[in-house]
Amino acid sequence: MALSVHLRSYVCDFIFLGGLYMSEGLDLCSSAKMQPIRDLIAKVAATNTTLLLRGESGVGKEVVARAIHKASPRAHRQFLKVNCAALPGELLESELFGHEKGAFTGAYRQKPGKFEAADQGTLLLDEIGEMPLRLQAKLLHVLQDGEFSRVGGEKIIGTDVRLIASTNRDLETAMRAHQFREDLYYRLNVIEIRIPPLRERREEIPVLVDHFLTQFNSQYGRKIEIPSETMRVFVEYHWPGNIRELENAVKRVVVLGTHRTVHQEIAATLGRGPRPAVTTAAVTATINPEQMISLKDIARQAARDAERVAIKEVLDRVHWNRAKAARLLQISYKALLYKIVQCGLVTPEEKQGIVPEPMSRNEVVAS
Ligand SMILES: Nc1ncnc2c1ncn2[C@@H]1O[C@H](COP(=O)(O)OP(=O)(O)OP(=O)(O)O)[C@@H](O)[C@H]1O
Ligand SMILES: [Mg+2]
Repeated sequence: MALSVHLRSYVCDFIFLGGLYMSEGLDLCSSAKMQPIRDLIAKVAATNTTLLLRGESGVGKEVVARAIHKASPRAHRQFLKVNCAALPGELLESELFGHEKGAFTGAYRQKPGKFEAADQGTLLLDEIGEMPLRLQAKLLHVLQDGEFSRVGGEKIIGTDVRLIASTNRDLETAMRAHQFREDLYYRLNVIEIRIPPLRERREEIPVLVDHFLTQFNSQYGRKIEIPSETMRVFVEYHWPGNIRELENAVKRVVVLGTHRTVHQEIAATLGRGPRPAVTTAAVTATINPEQMISLKDIARQAARDAERVAIKEVLDRVHWNRAKAARLLQISYKALLYKIVQCGLVTPEEKQGIVPEPMSRNEVVAS
């Protein structure tokens, strides 16, 4: 049975169209820019069409995917998500398609994958642009034929999954660089939904702030309010991390018990524009007047400081998603891991006393 289109689904489409299913989770997205997207979601939710969600990090791609699932006839079945950037190729293959006992070292028992678990439901493949080429071929096969085999197995397993893919990567460029299969691109991109960044739908900001404020006040047992001048600063700010950054800003206001710190930080950013990466004061402070001064060393030190600040900012912005950060910084994943060590940045895993696997420090330094 083909995955996305078959006669029964078309019959269902007409039954479920006509506003019977309303999109959930997007009630706060009331801006003019989001209205066509809400309309489109209402139209496509009930179909089995594959969807490609695009937009910057934190714009709400997953929220939209969940809204589509909830508005679809599959709502009573599973909605599952797999982050294609979070796992190396072999593990990702097993996560998606499952494996048989003994398929690889450590495969002690048979394990079904997400395609089996999400049968008759919806599967979100997040960061699809990071999927290795070999797996892209296998995914294309599943999309075309609606069947696959577990890793290390021969049995053909049929699947009926509604697939939603999301990315903030420029897939067209990836395609030209032969990093993304053209046939898969066209197969996924039946309907494309581009979610605009928050700075293009500023009228949603006050409603979102109120929503997060209520949520965090209740969560932390507080009664913090955000005054109108702070709200004005929030509306003006460009929110590079989009709704996720706004959510975190409101959370900080509630946790700190005052709006002042966050207000000042954002107002300062608005006032001064892009921040210089390193100050000359930081460099001159390291110069001893009694010693020879090597301009080369100063330049090297300044470059290292600038790198450290930039890498830290980008990693924080993407919540330490290293694959995403490497892409934004336009360096390889390995080079980023090396630089994290070189710059002495403390990873979230280290903060919690966990040695990250499989990218432990030794491995990074050795590579
Ligand atoms: N319409 C919305 N209403 C309430 N919260 C929202 C909305 N859109 C996004 N959020 C919140 O913003 C955060 C980021 O949303 P989401 O994870 O869907 O973004 P994303 O585009 O998938 O990000 P990434 O590219 O980093 O995966 C989440 O905590 C989510 O709950
Ligand atoms: Mg996401």
